[in-house]
Amino acid sequence: MLPVPTAAIIVVAAGSGTRLDAGAPKAFVGIDTHSILRHALDGVFAAAPAQVVVVAPAGFEGDAETELRAAAGDRIDLARVVTGGGTRQESVAAGLAALWGDVSTVLVHDAARALTPPSLIDAVVAAVDERTGVLPTLPVVDTLKHVDGHTVVGPVDRSALAAAQTPQGFPRALLEAAYAQAARDGVEYTDDAALFAAAGHPVQRIDGSARGFKITTPDDLDRARQLLAPSSRPDTWALTAAPRVGVGTDVHAFGGTGNLWLAGLEWPGEQPLSGHSDGDAVAHAMVDALLGAAGLGDIGEHFGTAHPEYAGAHAEVFLARTREMLVERGFRIGNVSVQFQGNRPRFSARRIEAEGVLSAALGGAPVSVAATTTDGLGFPGRAEGIAVTAVAIVFDTGLPPGAGHGVSTQATAEREQS
Ligand code: CTP
Ligand code: MG
Repeated sequence: MLPVPTAAIIVVAAGSGTRLDAGAPKAFVGIDTHSILRHALDGVFAAAPAQVVVVAPAGFEGDAETELRAAAGDRIDLARVVTGGGTRQESVAAGLAALWGDVSTVLVHDAARALTPPSLIDAVVAAVDERTGVLPTLPVVDTLKHVDGHTVVGPVDRSALAAAQTPQGFPRALLEAAYAQAARDGVEYTDDAALFAAAGHPVQRIDGSARGFKITTPDDLDRARQLLAPSSRPDTWALTAAPRVGVGTDVHAFGGTGNLWLAGLEWPGEQPLSGHSDGDAVAHAMVDALLGAAGLGDIGEHFGTAHPEYAGAHAEVFLARTREMLVERGFRIGNVSVQFQGNRPRFSARRIEAEGVLSAALGGAPVSVAATTTDGLGFPGRAEGIAVTAVAIVFDTGLPPGAGHGVSTQATAEREQS
């Protein structure tokens, strides 16, 4: 059993998406094969474990539950759906009412910021203390003007301004009290940091993320699609990027109880592989190949027994986190090719499905998985276990750490250019 988390993330998804105007509540609009809400939740569940409360539009609780189950995997026990209200503030209040007693730190996150990196979520949790709220911000890069209709009235000093993002984090008790106060006063705030500050509490800023933009208009949705579609991504980096190759192997013995997890899929009725996590040797070899290609160490260092939060985790969690580590350091994943040796499971019928799951966890990079038997030889041939080899190619784009992902360096670069 994992320890009960003391942090909670309220994901508000109950808005109607008037400005997006896509014919459905915004959270359920697709970016690629996955909805805005699903992407937001994938980010949330790739961060450190927390209680997760999804605030859904009335009548869409079942749809939200489906997305939540898909994103949460075996962390579903930490998660639930509640019904939102007519304003964002009412929706957050509904989320607050569903928190567990153990929770001391609360994050409030817009589902509409679907591509927010998990590392930003972790950074907000880490920065909250018992008195202080935390707000991720980006510098304002445009020159700003006071206007009156078509008349430009004067300049605005942007050096004292910042654009606010979510997740915003707070000590739970003070945020609840501030919400109660706002309800009594009948005052509506545009974000939680404003409500918290109005109750007299300090709020600190940390660097936000360029990927944490809010999908508000159809143009924003296009931007999210561009970022997720590998083929349509501007590939100028590819002209100068250095390819690097990595190899990873893994072996697990069959053993234990429950179902087999292999290549990102659950195999009902098949004997499981034993291991610290779910024993998914295909995913583990892939992680080692990717880390090796990027020169970032190995799976034991990043996900081993010193990281109990990964005990029992499935392929998607490992791979998404691995991809994030690479992206943070300026790497792009080319493709990964994997082969496992084992008599079972009989793989071919589910190969396409497995490749889809593994590729999605790597942000769409192609993954191919082959399976072979060993003519009865060795431990795979005796059906004692499975041996896997993976090869990955990554591209070192030379972009400074953080570009296109974390933001402090990008924000600094933008400040320097303006
Ligand atoms: N939100 C909510 N409940 C509301 C209104 C908004 O949970 N009554 C959530 C939205 O789902 C979104 C976040 O608050 O994730 C930020 O709101 P916004 O981007 O304004 O979304 P919508 O209100 O859905 O969009 P619009 O204002 O264009 O209708
Ligand atoms: Mg709105």
